[in-house]
Amino acid sequence: MSLKKQLCIGLTLVPSKKDKENLHIDDNKIYSGIDEQIELAQRAEKAKLDFVFKADYLVAHPDLIVRNKGSVILDPTLLFAAIARETQKIGVVTTASTSFNPPYILARQLQSLNWISNGRAGWNIVTSINGAENFGNAMMPSSEERYAKAAECTELVRKLWKSHPYEVLGVDSADAAEVIREMIQPIDHEGEFFHVKGPLNVPAHFSGTMPLFQAGASESGRNFAASVADAIFAATPDIESGIELCKDLRKRAQQNGRQPDAIRVLPGLYFFIGDTYEEAQEMYRQAHQHLTVERRYALVEMVLGLNLRGLSLKEKVTAGILPDANQSVRSKTHADLLRRFIIKNEPTVEQLLERPEVIGSAHWVAVGTPQEVFHQIMERFEAGALHGFIAIPGGPPKSLDLFFSDVIPLFVEAGVFRKDYTGSTLCEHLGIFKE
Ligand SMILES: Cc1cc2nc3c(=O)[nH]c(=O)nc-3n(C[C@H](O)[C@H](O)[C@H](O)COP(=O)(O)O)c2cc1C
Repeated sequence: MSLKKQLCIGLTLVPSKKDKENLHIDDNKIYSGIDEQIELAQRAEKAKLDFVFKADYLVAHPDLIVRNKGSVILDPTLLFAAIARETQKIGVVTTASTSFNPPYILARQLQSLNWISNGRAGWNIVTSINGAENFGNAMMPSSEERYAKAAECTELVRKLWKSHPYEVLGVDSADAAEVIREMIQPIDHEGEFFHVKGPLNVPAHFSGTMPLFQAGASESGRNFAASVADAIFAATPDIESGIELCKDLRKRAQQNGRQPDAIRVLPGLYFFIGDTYEEAQEMYRQAHQHLTVERRYALVEMVLGLNLRGLSLKEKVTAGILPDANQSVRSKTHADLLRRFIIKNEPTVEQLLERPEVIGSAHWVAVGTPQEVFHQIMERFEAGALHGFIAIPGGPPKSLDLFFSDVIPLFVEAGVFRKDYTGSTLCEHLGIFKE
């Protein structure tokens, strides 16, 4: 009997409600929320998930601070180093920007995380939507320039990883320094954005290549993903956008001489799970009630450059009032998804202000009982709209409890998710076998 196609499941580490209640400053001990993050990673490992994950931004944004409910937003690579020592099997996928980090530092930190976790590290490559002001640039470079830099940076990081083979660790002879000098070779990279001699000062991990994730699905983003990514963290608010992205990446992967399924499409899945649909719906409502109408207008403006304040809530938003498609936006992925929804549906302003493209970073939202959420995910899996998902827990702790206690076991029962780990590295969990 052949094994059914398997889902790949990651979990975004979010602060638990407990964090806020426990937030205290006493005896000079400031609470960071790290213990809860470790505990959450351990629960994800107990459920045999593929990896834990964290997005990251290099700005202090009030919205992000609010979303983190009073716990400290730590550098994800450092956080995952701590988590890796408290877990044994689960992958740790950190986010790091190619627009602002020097490739040598990236290569070194990521390979260090790979050693600290014993081959469980993954890198989510982002080109960033903001933060230029913190790195000496007045404005963000264009999306195309950021991707050109990302391509060179990623190639360079991989060359650096190769420049210092793990076999160096086994050298034990009188002329060890001579032998090692032969084994670690400079890469002498001279590119458009970077000049790096190498070699790297951390050896490659013996588990092989590190899985590369990518986020950003404009034309340039997809081409970049097709050339290097093993997985894409996707924003696909509806089934059609998921099917389109999967088909498109299959084609692009093949055009790059890769296997059609080389790029796993993993949409963010913002979930609210209750004992009844009504309870889950109420969780969803409460999670968004802090977003005033003014805040929602501001979000539309930020994503699309469209000011809706002059229209009444009952008025329709039509293609005719959309700004020029070629104007500069923070993220083409997010702007295009919102534009597409408006053109296809002509929603009222009120309807638009409820959409995930406006209030949820365009992530797919699943609301319901464990059975209902399971069916919503299976529908997309069977329709070819995803290879798995990166869960983003929403609502109170009960929602996450039900995800672990009821939803994951339904996948196992359906034969589309593992009962236990069969490997110990992230490559093995994801079924990546190369070099
Ligand atoms: C689903 C998704 C998640 C993203 N996560 C991050 C992130 O954690 N940090 C970050 O700086 N940028 C993040 N980005 C921004 C992208 O890296 C990219 O800069 C942006 O989307 C512009 O690329 P595009 O033109 O392909 O959309 C994300 C984008 C998407 C679509």
